[in-house]
Amino acid sequence: MINNKLPKIWYGGDYNPEQWNDETMEEDIRMFQLADIDVATVNVFSWASIQPNEDTYNFEKLDQMINRLHQDRISVCLATSTGAHPAWMAKRYPDVTRVDYEGRKRKFGGRHNSCPNSPTYRKYAKLIAGKIAERYKDHPALVAWHISNEYGGYCYCDNCADAFRSWLQQRYGTIEGLNKAWYTSFWGHTFYDWDEIVTPNALSEEWGGNRTNFQSISLDYRRFQSDSLLECYLIEYDEIRKHSANIQITTNLMGTYPELDYFKWAKHLDVVSWDNYPSIDTPVSYTAMTHALMRGLKSGQPFMLMEQTPSQQNWQAYNALKRPGVMRLWSYQAVAHGADTVMFFQLRRSIGACEKYHGAVIEHVGHEHTRVFRECAELGHELTALSDKLIDSRIDAKAAIVFDWENRWAVELSSGPSIALKYVDEVHKYYDALFELNIQTDMISVEESLEQYDLVIAPVMYMIKPGFAEKVEAFVQRGGTFITTFFSGIVNETDIVTTGGYPGKLRKVLGIWAEEIDALLPGQQNQIVMNNVYGALSGTYTCNLLCDLIHSEGAEVVAEYGSDFYKGMPVVTVNKFGKGEAWYIASSPDEHFLKGLLTNICQDKGIESLLDTPTGVEVTRRNKDGKSFTFILNHNSEAAELQLGAEPCTDLLTGELVSGTYRLAAKGVLIIEK
Ligand code: GLA
Ligand code: ZN
Repeated sequence: MINNKLPKIWYGGDYNPEQWNDETMEEDIRMFQLADIDVATVNVFSWASIQPNEDTYNFEKLDQMINRLHQDRISVCLATSTGAHPAWMAKRYPDVTRVDYEGRKRKFGGRHNSCPNSPTYRKYAKLIAGKIAERYKDHPALVAWHISNEYGGYCYCDNCADAFRSWLQQRYGTIEGLNKAWYTSFWGHTFYDWDEIVTPNALSEEWGGNRTNFQSISLDYRRFQSDSLLECYLIEYDEIRKHSANIQITTNLMGTYPELDYFKWAKHLDVVSWDNYPSIDTPVSYTAMTHALMRGLKSGQPFMLMEQTPSQQNWQAYNALKRPGVMRLWSYQAVAHGADTVMFFQLRRSIGACEKYHGAVIEHVGHEHTRVFRECAELGHELTALSDKLIDSRIDAKAAIVFDWENRWAVELSSGPSIALKYVDEVHKYYDALFELNIQTDMISVEESLEQYDLVIAPVMYMIKPGFAEKVEAFVQRGGTFITTFFSGIVNETDIVTTGGYPGKLRKVLGIWAEEIDALLPGQQNQIVMNNVYGALSGTYTCNLLCDLIHSEGAEVVAEYGSDFYKGMPVVTVNKFGKGEAWYIASSPDEHFLKGLLTNICQDKGIESLLDTPTGVEVTRRNKDGKSFTFILNHNSEAAELQLGAEPCTDLLTGELVSGTYRLAAKGVLIIEK
């Protein structure tokens, strides 16, 4: 449990009363009561107000705010305020500001703007985190620590360059080791001294954000910057832990955010928390996948939904309102995938600067008679009624998809075969197919044990880390089904090709080898021609993006390419290996093929769909103490008809018994307890 002081789904969110007067705060608290809001995340961007200069700290306002919230039983998720440094600090100590990708030294401005290797930033972040922890550690309102805010972005300053060189020395030991790992004999890049190495940005190896001349250098810089920010987080973490032994510590993550290796970070978070901001047109299965990924960061442990908007964002191009019922539906979607909190950014709208048009529980009109407030209050009452029923319940999945940030960096830094290859999109295709089938799916790291799974899918597993191929072999040997795709098994951790035929270390388990890789133009397709009827699959499907030209070395050829000079070569193969089988999908298939393939495999393996539902109706299940809670979420704009089976079960939200044919309203939510 995140904190047993509050054994229910926490409800609340970011709250910035430093932006308004005391009377307004009184009004806010009155309205929080009306909506059953019980947690406020405070002090996220208050560094400048707490520390007006180098030697002065002033906690008076924060004391008052926390005490006032506590008086009305509102708990506090307390942030350390280091998400934006004060202006005086940037003026006095220019090392706190970053150097950007173009090599420009930044001035004061924005937020999430500190150089992670700035001695000044590290010193003062440590100090303020320690002071806050010491002061509030025993405050009865405190339920969680929130370090900084949405860590991200890279810096290319001289302090970072120095730290990068030390990081490299640690990693490679000798300059010869580095030259070998990076393949610097290419384009005369041999380094003789560590200080010849510069940061890879638009002034050196890179352009356009992720185009590079030297993948190994760029890859290591991403690892290094992710580690540097993680060190900043850890500096604060350790300070807090010195004073506060038992309160859980987190920092809010951003789902599939590209720049940080969240699997590495999550090892240092007591509880994962994340900020969910889908657009009106984000596929529902993408949001579902992201929740599953956040759950997977700590091997299935429940997570916090730290932020979502009650109505709209401000930072998208077109900030559509969440339609009536959608905020509730998406809140339950988070819970359905393992969230134990439902929190918003923000509880009251600011009236100045760039977030004044960002949705809030309390709108600019300032009273409770708004659509958004009514919807928030209704949800608040429901969550209160749910009490601790769902808290700490777990998801039991037999299917897993492997996700890896370093692999993603390598794939997207690759020069060739296609700029259209987007790792997350390929992963999502597979997740989406399982989602359509209502098959519960975990998103796991390459380090995760595969033992609990029957089906493991590793789309575009381009980079093979030590031990991964062996783990896959053991998994298949024991009877597991493994699926991987084109552009897999190609390189090692420093992006050096494994010679002797792709897919390198996965070749044995897959029983194929790939000779060439063709990149298709936008709009161009090839075909997947089935050799036989295979369960739900027969006839011809389409594929695009990349086509591996493969040869079987024992794998059964399930389908062949339908056109071009490689017509008749295998495109889908399955290799029997030990008690299991390993599939290779040599191109990017259409959704019908994937749905058919996964239907077959799940049927063969006895991986059951949770419920047969119309398209657009999502199903997940959480279990606890021998009970199961099945979430049925209707994302459609029309009611959906469900067949619940003969046995009457409790509808958790109404307490009524449900069975047989059931009509779930548009955007409706049903949670069945069994
Ligand atoms: C992020 C931040 C918040 C706020 C929201 C707006 O999630 O953490 O401070 O800016 O975005 O969507
Ligand atoms: Zn820097």
